[in-house]
Amino acid sequence: MSDTVTIIDNRTGKQLNCPVLQGVMGPPVIDIKHLYKELGMFTYDPGYGSTSSCKSAITYLDGEQGVLMYRGYPIEQLAEQSTFLEVCYLLIYGELPSRLQMDEWETGIKMHTMTHEHLSRFYTGYRYDAHPMSIMGGVVNAIASYYHDATDIYDAGQRLMTAKRVIGKMPNIASKCYRYAIGLPFVYPDNSLSYIENFMNMTFSKPSEKYKPSPVAVRALDLLFILHADHEQNASTSTVRLAASAETNPFACIAAGIATLWGKAHGGANEAVIKMLEEIEHPRNIRKFLDRAKDKDDSFRLMGFGHRVYKNYDPRATIIRKACHELLGEMGLNQPMFEIAMELERIALEDGYFIERKLYPNVDFYSGLIYQALNIPSEMFTVMFALARSAGWVAQWMELMVDSDFRIGRPRQLYIGKEKRDYIPISQRS
Ligand code: ACO
Repeated sequence: MSDTVTIIDNRTGKQLNCPVLQGVMGPPVIDIKHLYKELGMFTYDPGYGSTSSCKSAITYLDGEQGVLMYRGYPIEQLAEQSTFLEVCYLLIYGELPSRLQMDEWETGIKMHTMTHEHLSRFYTGYRYDAHPMSIMGGVVNAIASYYHDATDIYDAGQRLMTAKRVIGKMPNIASKCYRYAIGLPFVYPDNSLSYIENFMNMTFSKPSEKYKPSPVAVRALDLLFILHADHEQNASTSTVRLAASAETNPFACIAAGIATLWGKAHGGANEAVIKMLEEIEHPRNIRKFLDRAKDKDDSFRLMGFGHRVYKNYDPRATIIRKACHELLGEMGLNQPMFEIAMELERIALEDGYFIERKLYPNVDFYSGLIYQALNIPSEMFTVMFALARSAGWVAQWMELMVDSDFRIGRPRQLYIGKEKRDYIPISQRS
């Protein structure tokens, strides 16, 4: 088999042999780096459906088969046996830690759970009803100012320190987004607690009562964080990488990722799913909503359904669906919304429209139900997602900074505007 692909410009007969790169897994990739120089042409691929924007050794996913792996480890095994903090180590270092390495890692993260006291004042600048994703993006960007001059992004030790800061501080930042909205005082981290317990304590404890998170809830959150930790070159991760390619402060890059994740076509879908299930209200109304989702004249889409890459079950949705069953069972909760979700899934998966287009439930379809069972308000769902995804973002940032092909990201365009024309003074315009 040839390891090049020849592009022939039929207008001029000029040819370019492009190398075909083969990754460890996944389809081969045509290297078109020299296309413009040799043939004077760009490629056009809106939404990057066929474009690899980078090389990466972090996450692999096969959308046809419904496979997801972090550093080669199947997500099902990590979900069953690992913890979020261990997964963070895996994403950053590429290998699972020994017991000693894990202890050092945990201690290292705990050294970075505090934020500068002045940072708390940023929260109070927001309106009482501000969306917590808006607050989170603003506060993470503000943190960039605390570490700006001191951060040498070309120093490996400082990059690792940045990773620890991001992973250590995110629970603190996220919890304050929640508490500000409901008028509870901020809680300092307690490093005697585990990562998840500490987050829950900062988020849910009240000064007037003793608080001990339920082990079931801790495990459910840990699981959700593992599933959300990374997902290859999605919109928010690509945003982080593009910002980082300009040698931007890493906290500012992550703030850019948070802004992108907020959108309802991306991480904001978990919040939108709950709103949709509330609107559906009863299983008897499901078909009406499905008809709307299929109607091209209606902008309504089934939230939590469909994915750019997965044309099969999103493996994370399968894990979350099972966890949702277990959690509701263990907590003794009877959630009518879960019944609506399962019935909606069943009917949609038998419907020709969804079958033809290979539209399956994605990670967001069931995650909101778990958050809801844990009494987390829906506006906080995407904040939880961002907290967990920060680990992936910072791992991707670190990888980019040592990439031999590192250069500023600069897509090209197909210009469809006016040709050159001369300026006419306003007095002469009709
Ligand atoms: N409901 C109804 N129809 C849908 C849906 C949906 N949720 N998703 C896709 N379709 C239809 C489209 O209308 C299109 O139909 P057509 O071929 O007749 O025109 C076809 O399926 C292909 O859809 P595209 O929009 O081209 O798919 P794309 O890959 O661009 O979009 C996306 C993927 C944004 C996730 C889309 O499926 C969607 O909007 N889903 C709902 C929002 C959601 O759940 N987002 C979370 C994704 S997971 C994450 O980011 C964490």
